[in-house]
Amino acid sequence: MRLFKYILLIALFSQTAIAQTLLTNSYNRNSISLNGEWKYIVDPYENGYYNYRYDAFDQMENPGKNAYFTDSKVDNRSELLEYNFDESESIMVPGDWNSQKENLFYYEGTVWYRKTFEVNPSNAQRYFIYFGAVNYEAEVYLNGKKLGKHIGGFTPFHFEVTEILNNVKNSLVVKVDNKRKAEAVPTLNTDWWNYGGITRDVKLLSTPINYIDDYLIQLEPGEMNQINGFIQLNGMDISDKLVTFSIPDHGVEVNLRTDKNGRVEINERVRGIKHWSPENPKSYDVIITFDEDKVEEKIGFRTISTKDKDILLNGDPIFLKGISIHEENPLRGGRAHSEADARLILGWAKELGCNYVRLAHYPHNEHMVRVADELGLLVWSEIPVYWTIDWDNPETYANAENQLLSMVNRDKNRAAVIIWSMANETPVSNDRNTFLTKLANKTRAIDSTRLISAAQEQSGYDGLENTRTISDPFAEVVDVLSFNQYIGWYDGLPGKARLINWKIDINKPVLISEFGAGALYGFRADSLTRWSEDYQAWLYKETIDMVERIPQLSGFSPWILTDFRSPRRPLPRIQDGWNRKGLISSEGEKKQAFYVLQNYYLNKN
Ligand code: GCU
Repeated sequence: MRLFKYILLIALFSQTAIAQTLLTNSYNRNSISLNGEWKYIVDPYENGYYNYRYDAFDQMENPGKNAYFTDSKVDNRSELLEYNFDESESIMVPGDWNSQKENLFYYEGTVWYRKTFEVNPSNAQRYFIYFGAVNYEAEVYLNGKKLGKHIGGFTPFHFEVTEILNNVKNSLVVKVDNKRKAEAVPTLNTDWWNYGGITRDVKLLSTPINYIDDYLIQLEPGEMNQINGFIQLNGMDISDKLVTFSIPDHGVEVNLRTDKNGRVEINERVRGIKHWSPENPKSYDVIITFDEDKVEEKIGFRTISTKDKDILLNGDPIFLKGISIHEENPLRGGRAHSEADARLILGWAKELGCNYVRLAHYPHNEHMVRVADELGLLVWSEIPVYWTIDWDNPETYANAENQLLSMVNRDKNRAAVIIWSMANETPVSNDRNTFLTKLANKTRAIDSTRLISAAQEQSGYDGLENTRTISDPFAEVVDVLSFNQYIGWYDGLPGKARLINWKIDINKPVLISEFGAGALYGFRADSLTRWSEDYQAWLYKETIDMVERIPQLSGFSPWILTDFRSPRRPLPRIQDGWNRKGLISSEGEKKQAFYVLQNYYLNKN
């Protein structure tokens, strides 16, 4: 009977299935890693997806052997088959193809990936194929059957495969397409490399038939000793079930019973809990058990709020000493994806004297937020609603909202994450204001414990060149007023900062989400010589003096920790395809401005 039910479930959803909502805390579940060598076939004409009439194989009753997702073999010496994963080259997963294969450095199109694996599935378990992220669009097949499709290059997804997995060789095939599109999120134009591929961890998760699917364990906003949240079970027998929630180090052990939907609310007073902070990133072992399922993770407890011009962490004003970061390991010149990458990058931020990082311009991999939790780095997390998005396209909005929900769902138990950012540098229009306000309202509806912001743009005040303000309607919606400004780089020289007055009549905390200048490491000259380290260092000194004149200033995250690849930065012998605004070079060397900012942060109370 169970088998029939699941087959029916999969049949119902298999054709149009989009990725299921993620089961929470995939990192601490029973799993088999599918990382490592995968076979791949580059397919710019999507030959493996369409026949010569451009009919899509996966819409056919019997696609035959020409569909790459069937991972077909030649049965006899006369048979024609024009692709063969077994004979194809290998590529590492996780990882982008651009930095692994020289002939794919600029490639934008479809690549087919194939992984074979053996497993001995148990009748008492359910199985899910989990992807940390695939950039940009993934179509996933297991043993020739389509599991579904996922759109969005920076958020996790999974598909249940309980009834498709077999106990011999399984063939997992993924069609990855990183073509940029006007209606996508991000859209056609970005200032970062369009790394394609299965860019984050892949694993086969297993759970009991009835399992712990989702949970939120956080302090009630404004309540220093009140844990609120929920636990949600998944399965066919989850009503009126005993669930335990415990924090052993704090003597908390609570028995709870689920409602008819397998859900139970948590309301637990926890007097004397040590609160998470950058100075003391204290996390507690939290354990949830249900029947034979048990999920553990380290969770920090803190409150974050605003009061007039202050950001309050655990009720006290905090100045965010930040830096912006792209998800790239500059030493490898490719997408960052591992815990080692996270420790390298966030280690540099700690060395800089930061208590805060802006993870731009998209949700970074889960290692980054978990390591930030551990190191005591507050996090701004952002969806790639970047520049000129297709604001009046409903599918574009649905895509942006889906990425937002996935970002919030994955990291909702991470103390480090304090700000959800809706966008970066988006031109003001009615459609854009509606789009962003809908996203902000949706975020507040699903997570009332964190702050909302977006990197807006500054503008002249009343036609006065040297008086600047924020005249963006979205400033009324956000909790924290953030904006990018490049006075001294795109707007005059660094000395211009001395002439600027800021007229911001909004009684909210202000974060400068970007400022910076390009510099080639090792190029020393005078401070007026563009691209020299001296020019960049001068800009930092002038900008810090300027922004300190903003009374609501609660911090900043200069652009950017390390040089990063961008197709928009061609200047020979200076950029060579890299954006050089890093404080650290693409070889890991610290520029003069690194020490200017480090000195400021280490002396800033
Ligand atoms: C913009 C944008 C960044 C970009 C930066 C730059 O503000 O937000 O993504 O890289 O400026 O021009 O270097």
